Amino acid sequence: MAPKLLVTCGHLQRHIARYRDEIVAHGVEVWVPKLDGQQFGAAEMAAMLAEADVAVAGDDDLSAPVLRAGVAGKLRGLVRWGIGTDNVDKPVATEIGLPVYNTPGMFSNEVADLALGHILTLARHLQRMDRDVRAGLWTRYEGRSLHGLTLGIVGLGGIGREIARRGVAFGMKVIGSDVVTVDPKLLAAVGAQQKPFEAVLAEADIIVLACNLTPENHHLINADALARMKHGVMLVNVARGPIVDEAALVDALRSGKVGSAGLDVFEAEPLPADSPLRAFEDNTLFGTHSGSSTAEAIQRVNRMSVDIALAMLGLGHADLANFNKVA
Ligand SMILES: NC(=O)c1ccc[n+]([C@@H]2O[C@H](COP(=O)([O-])OP(=O)(O)OC[C@H]3O[C@@H](n4cnc5c(N)ncnc54)[C@H](O)[C@@H]3O)[C@@H](O)[C@H]2O)c1
Repeated sequence: MAPKLLVTCGHLQRHIARYRDEIVAHGVEVWVPKLDGQQFGAAEMAAMLAEADVAVAGDDDLSAPVLRAGVAGKLRGLVRWGIGTDNVDKPVATEIGLPVYNTPGMFSNEVADLALGHILTLARHLQRMDRDVRAGLWTRYEGRSLHGLTLGIVGLGGIGREIARRGVAFGMKVIGSDVVTVDPKLLAAVGAQQKPFEAVLAEADIIVLACNLTPENHHLINADALARMKHGVMLVNVARGPIVDEAALVDALRSGKVGSAGLDVFEAEPLPADSPLRAFEDNTLFGTHSGSSTAEAIQRVNRMSVDIALAMLGLGHADLANFNKVA
């Protein structure tokens, strides 16, 4: 029977026509289940993974029971499209011998561009001006000059350093924190200085979250951390929603402690209709977890994901040793 490649990641689903003939030519069946929304839940994933030989997944539920169900069936390899692997139970994948690969470093530029988009829009009230002009108004808002501000970046990895490079180009002083000591040469190349988390909270006018989500940094930006920021700080999150305690952020927006917030990611996605964040119409900018969503980046990562999936089946031209194994 032909091996089955399951595609649950929406980005590859949308462009599967570009790869289908190539995959089928290797004798592999392509399985693209209908995706409503951003991801599949646990029950659906468990059932589908058990029927697939390899899978390319996105933000889907890849928790321990789901992975175990997959391996109890036919599953022998998993590609996590993109960088974040917080939805994958990596220790369990390792324990049950399920190889999992991701595609890191593929869209640092794109996510950094998006972060700067949030900063520029909020600093100059672009979203309010657009809204007002369309409503027949002509309001001239007083914004902030970026030149001379201090930009603080939490997480100085691939994305964080590209944000730093852009911040310097806009004339900002760039500081950042990380849980590891980042190679000073890498930081010097983008003009950033590593400082303790506390110093970033205290000194930055704009704080961008660009770290990976780990069990240790869940709600890293809580009421306590917010209290230590400058009054009126701008907070931008292009990393993962659960790094911010949204209830504490709502309080901080209400009090003016946080002057504005750009959020590409949320604790629950899509953002619930009754989220209290929606009340802040003038000083928040929301995204749809789309930091990597450019035609160029999606094509790049789709190509790599298909190469990895085929290589896991012992097919295609790519060598698995060239890819990033996370479990
Ligand atoms: N918004 C989007 O659409 C989108 C797209 C791609 C990636 N992301 C997120 O961005 C994250 C970062 O991507 P990357 O390519 O820069 O990853 P990376 O692994 O290169 O860098 C992450 C950095 O964060 C650091 N870090 C971890 N915990 C920290 C903490 N508590 N404080 C400070 N630093 C901490 C790590 O040590 C590492 O240096 C991804 O893990 C993903 O969750 C979001």
